[in-house]
Amino acid sequence: MNNPASEAETIWRPEVIPGQQVFLSHIRREDIPLFARWFSDLEFTTYTGAIGMSSTLEQEEEWFASITKDPTIKYFGIVVCEGQQLIGNISLKQINYRHGTAEIGIGIGEKSTWGKGYGSEAIRLMVDYGFTFLGLHSICLWHTSFNERGHRAYLKAGFKVAGQWREAALFDGQRYDHVLMDITREDFGPSQLRSMLQQLQDK
Ligand SMILES: CC(C)(COP(=O)(O)OP(=O)(O)OC[C@H]1O[C@@H](n2cnc3c(N)ncnc32)[C@H](O)[C@@H]1OP(=O)(O)O)[C@@H](O)C(=O)NCCC(=O)NCCS
Repeated sequence: MNNPASEAETIWRPEVIPGQQVFLSHIRREDIPLFARWFSDLEFTTYTGAIGMSSTLEQEEEWFASITKDPTIKYFGIVVCEGQQLIGNISLKQINYRHGTAEIGIGIGEKSTWGKGYGSEAIRLMVDYGFTFLGLHSICLWHTSFNERGHRAYLKAGFKVAGQWREAALFDGQRYDHVLMDITREDFGPSQLRSMLQQLQDK
C-alpha cells in the first residue's frame, strides 16, 4: 500500500505564507488520504476538541469539498521548510468581514513533529495573514483545558486568556473547561508579512 505521507512529502508546494521553520501552502485534493490518516487518530482529534471523532476518507473528501466553496473559511497546510513535509493544517473560520473577527484552528497531524516550535510559528503566520491581508482586527480560539501544549503554543504566539466556559468538556467521566483566548491587531505588533510587498519594505 502507498504511504500517503511519503507521497505528500515529494510534492512541490507554493510558499504562500513564508516563515522560518514552516510555511503555509494550499491543501490539495491529493492530500486528503493524509488528512484521513490524521483525523482517524483519537488522540489527535481529542486534542483538537473533537473528542471521540475518527473520520473516514469519505468524510475527509466531503470536508475538502465544503471548505473550497466557503468564503468564511481560509485553510492552509503547514509545511516544514526543510524537506517540504506537510505536517498539519491551520484555518481562519467564521470570518466576519464587517466586524473584522475570526476564529483560528490548528492541527498538526504528524505527532512526531509536536513540540518543535512549528505550531506556534504557523499560528503567528496565520494571524499575521488575517490582520495584514484580510484586514481582521481580533482573532479568537477555544481549547480544552487539558490541552497544555496547545495553550503554551498559543501564549507563545501572542494570544491571551479571555475567559473560560467552565466544565463544558467531558472526557472519561471528568469535566474540563473550554478556554477562550484572543489576540487583537494591537497585541500582535508589527506585521512580518508586510515586507512581502517590496514597495512597502522600507516604509
Ligand atoms: C497544539 C499544536 C498546534 C502546537 O504545536 P506544536 O508545534 O506542538 O507547539 P510548539 O512546539 O510551537 O509549542 C508547544 C509548547 O508547549 C510545550 N509543550 C510541549 N509538550 C508539552 C506537554 N506535553 N505539556 C505541556 N506543554 C508542552 C512546549 O515546551 C512549548 O512551549 P514553550 O516553547 O513555551 O516551552 C500541536 O501540538 C497539535 O496540533 N496538537 C494536536 C492538535 C491540537 O491540540 N490542536 C489545537 C486545538 S485547540
